[in-house]
Amino acid sequence: MLQGILNYAHELLKECVHPNETVIDATCGNGNDTVFLSKLVGEHGLVLGFDIQEQAINNTKQKLKENNCDNVKLILDSHANADTYLSTDTEQSIAGAIFNLGYLPKSDKSIITQGHTTMTAINKILQRLKENGIIVLVIYHGHPGGKEEKDIILDKVSKLDQKKYTVLKHEFLNQANTPPFLVAIQKR
Ligand SMILES: C[S@@+](CC[C@H](N)C(=O)[O-])C[C@H]1O[C@@H](n2cnc3c(N)ncnc32)[C@H](O)[C@@H]1O
Repeated sequence: MLQGILNYAHELLKECVHPNETVIDATCGNGNDTVFLSKLVGEHGLVLGFDIQEQAINNTKQKLKENNCDNVKLILDSHANADTYLSTDTEQSIAGAIFNLGYLPKSDKSIITQGHTTMTAINKILQRLKENGIIVLVIYHGHPGGKEEKDIILDKVSKLDQKKYTVLKHEFLNQANTPPFLVAIQKR
């Protein structure tokens, strides 16, 4: 059965991430992916969750509490600064990361992820990614600013060295209203 983009993103993470590992939710938003990652790595794993909006961090904190997740460190900062927290919070390599791009649902639609900062974060996480580790990007591009971000990301990830990384694009071809698509980068 073909799955929706977000389910497919989670399936890819399930294949590459194991209990006790360290993972990143680069865009916490309402915390759905954060809870998913928390369960995936289990009580002895670690999730680093980033968002630039206090509302998103609070929404995620609430969702984590409801789901009894206490292996998450929430960080009110841009994912572009991920290296700062990676070096101080964990010596471990990163097993997986998810970027759910765009704006916080039901909130200020002008606060969006941006191509250049997203790429800065991706490059910093790639440096700490374990062998066979994976970064998945769920790319929404129908909103103002979305196309610009999509173009920057596709341009840059298409140029990643194929000897070091496998880069996949997965998209539906017959859906209306600029559906999101998925890009996955796996370290070889
Ligand atoms: C589509 S939402 C994420 C949805 C979320 N994954 C969920 O499960 O609900 C995108 C989020 O990215 C956040 N964001 C935008 N720029 C960011 C940045 N530079 N660093 C971290 N988060 C950012 C926004 O504040 C917003 O909450």
